[in-house]
Amino acid sequence: MGADLDALAHSILKENDLGGYTIPTKGLYPYQWNWDSVFVAIGFATFDLDRAWQEIENLFEGQWDDGMLPHILFRKNDPSYFPGPGVWGTKSDPFPTSGHSQPPVAATAVRDLFEQSSAPENVSRAKTLFPKLMAWHRWWATYRDPKGHGTVAIVHPWESGRDNLPDWDEPLSNVDTTGVPEYTRKDTAHVDPEMRPLKQDYDRYMAILTIGKACGWDATEVVEKTPFLVADPAITMILLRANRDLLVLAEKLGFQKDKAEIEGWIAKQERGMETLWNPEIQAYVTRNLRTDVLGAGVSSASFLASYAGLSDPKVIEPLNAHFDRIAGKVEFMLPSYDPDHAGFEHKRYWRGPIWAVVNYLAARGMTEAGDVARAEKIRQDTVSLVERSGFAEYFSPEDGSGAGGNSFSWTAAVWLAWATPSLAVNKAA
Ligand code: DGY
Repeated sequence: MGADLDALAHSILKENDLGGYTIPTKGLYPYQWNWDSVFVAIGFATFDLDRAWQEIENLFEGQWDDGMLPHILFRKNDPSYFPGPGVWGTKSDPFPTSGHSQPPVAATAVRDLFEQSSAPENVSRAKTLFPKLMAWHRWWATYRDPKGHGTVAIVHPWESGRDNLPDWDEPLSNVDTTGVPEYTRKDTAHVDPEMRPLKQDYDRYMAILTIGKACGWDATEVVEKTPFLVADPAITMILLRANRDLLVLAEKLGFQKDKAEIEGWIAKQERGMETLWNPEIQAYVTRNLRTDVLGAGVSSASFLASYAGLSDPKVIEPLNAHFDRIAGKVEFMLPSYDPDHAGFEHKRYWRGPIWAVVNYLAARGMTEAGDVARAEKIRQDTVSLVERSGFAEYFSPEDGSGAGGNSFSWTAAVWLAWATPSLAVNKAA
């Protein structure tokens, strides 16, 4: 079974490879997505290290002059997706892109690729990428922490990658949709609408996009004018972890002069995470920077604490208690949102379903922190989900059924890089 699934995972990555860059899945997502590509790279690295580097190098072809790495790279127009390049209206070179970013997992993956081989070619590829990673991380620090909290503010739910998380409902409720031009969704033609965000959500997504476009996607102006400005614990923790990996790269690649700046970001973000701790529910939550309202639900973001290198028992112990409570409630871990919360829906995108990439990040952090039992529970559940439902985009935590798109690149990639029982490290488990 494991070997067949490994072969299938390889073939999914190859089929979704459009020649140096990989799409998440045909039809639903026909372009290059930022964090999808990075996970794809770690999948490729299990059998083709050169191709893994190429995926990330090609992703950085879309980097803007101000350092921002966009969430979608529109290398060629494909009418099967909405909103396409014309709707975004960015002025990017050498091809159009979307106007905001996505979770910064790339520095961590670059460190992984660099550490896989000491061949001179590997060192030189990491050295070429380092300044680009620096510029992107500096962009987050410069433009996306307007209150100086040490957290990452997102300007659109799409930037989080967790589009319809229940925590966005409150900040989205302040978005005026009256000026939104007519539009036709394409996602619900590819996927059961029950598994996708609601029309009300899409209207708000389009309203925010329209404001960003009117700002010419200028990073400062968008932050000033967007009605949706929310500190996201997941992006903040992913960036904190990525900064730790960038610091190691700076040391190993000889970028000594950059170390103090990275250390400053790390110290600030460690303090910043304290502003996202909700003492009432004892978990990391979102903070609406327009109203100062904290999110009130436990999302899978909280379980990235160890991945981010946060280790205070006052945080880890309550989070472990949440983990164990949730594990007793659902058949499979990790649901993207608390099944005991009224906003939970087991098949609707980020309101409950399990995402293999989040499972990978959370379990990686737990393993590093010595919590092998919880990490292994997450991995074994991921194996069961893929065995039962294939390489789906996401999975129901209640019945394990697959949801969203099929033949999904990042699910295949994290299978190969982490979950598969055929990996030597998993054979003993
Ligand atoms: C979509 O189109 O659903 C994406 O999540 C936006 O990045």
